[in-house]
Amino acid sequence: MLNTLPNTLSRAEAEFRALQARGATFLGTEMAIMGGAMSWVSERTLVAAISNAGGFGVIACGSMSPALLEAEIAATQALTQKPFGVNLITMHPQLDDLVRVCLAAKVGHIVLAGGIPPGPAVRAVKDGGARLIAFAPALVLAKRFQKSGVDALVIEGSEAGGHIGPVSLTVLAQEILPHIRDLPVFVAGGLGRGEAILGYLEMGAAGAQLGTRFAASAESVAHPNFKAAFIKANARDAIPSIQLDERFPVIPVRGLVNEGTKKFLAHQAETVRKFQAGELDKTAAQLSIEHFWAGALRRAVVDGDVEGGSVMAGQSVGMVTAIQSVADILAELTSQAVAALVARAERR
Ligand SMILES: Cc1cc2nc3c(=O)[nH]c(=O)nc-3n(C[C@H](O)[C@H](O)[C@H](O)COP(=O)(O)O)c2cc1C
Repeated sequence: MLNTLPNTLSRAEAEFRALQARGATFLGTEMAIMGGAMSWVSERTLVAAISNAGGFGVIACGSMSPALLEAEIAATQALTQKPFGVNLITMHPQLDDLVRVCLAAKVGHIVLAGGIPPGPAVRAVKDGGARLIAFAPALVLAKRFQKSGVDALVIEGSEAGGHIGPVSLTVLAQEILPHIRDLPVFVAGGLGRGEAILGYLEMGAAGAQLGTRFAASAESVAHPNFKAAFIKANARDAIPSIQLDERFPVIPVRGLVNEGTKKFLAHQAETVRKFQAGELDKTAAQLSIEHFWAGALRRAVVDGDVEGGSVMAGQSVGMVTAIQSVADILAELTSQAVAALVARAERR
């Protein structure tokens, strides 16, 4: 952009800001970029870093107890004056208590993930004055959530890291964005560059949510081995978990191929053999398959066991080429989007 006229550049910057205005106003931020909640990764340091840099950090509550969540929120508030959110998993047995903790701490935005948000939790969030964000995996659910009082939606494509649905963001965005105009919709999954974010904003998205790029940031507390694995990996290395036998469903989770993913296939084969030999009943066999990954994300993120643990990562991992600060990542996304707008203006 060295030869770009100053006017063209400032117009492009203003245009990118304007495209983000709805999402940024909703979040109370400078940029309409959310840091997707990542269990074990999205804690006080990373969340505060994202919010302090102008984005919107989100604490991943995961399986934390209400007391632990309360402490994590307080610690995050000590590191940033800027808004941030909390992501709660709907099947957490103490969901209502967790909502109460968020409301008491004046968390402004609560994300309910991992299923259809239950009515009592939706009402509690709304009555408590917080904004409610939900994941919409299909247009019909997006419309239902709109009626049930949800304030914003995330549509997350199967390119994303972690637990995934079956449909790519390319398709979800086309199915949902033209039809949901009354709620801000944030797009997620496989986003690594500013031009792509710009494209979705122009299709009507209010903003974007990124996980993988922030997991490998300088401020991320993930183990150095975890970040090194991200830098080394290509998009094709981030694959969904494989189900061996349709009688024993496997929840699709996208992560890097490693020894653990190979052992998981062998474990499923052995479990199916035991079931067929009458050594395990169906419930015990299913539980044995489900328990294989228990604690595995923690092992990878915290202990750095990137061969045996679960290295959840999106296909965007191929665009992670260095450890960058959160501020540099956000600045890079902006400059890529702005460069695309400048190039367009110069073609006219
Ligand atoms: C390591 C990791 C852990 C994640 N954990 C969660 C989680 O606990 N809750 C959740 O709603 N999403 C989780 N996600 C999904 C992210 O919030 C985000 O939507 C996703 O990473 C976006 O796709 P991207 O990774 O291609 O940017 C996780 C993703 C990763 C990479």
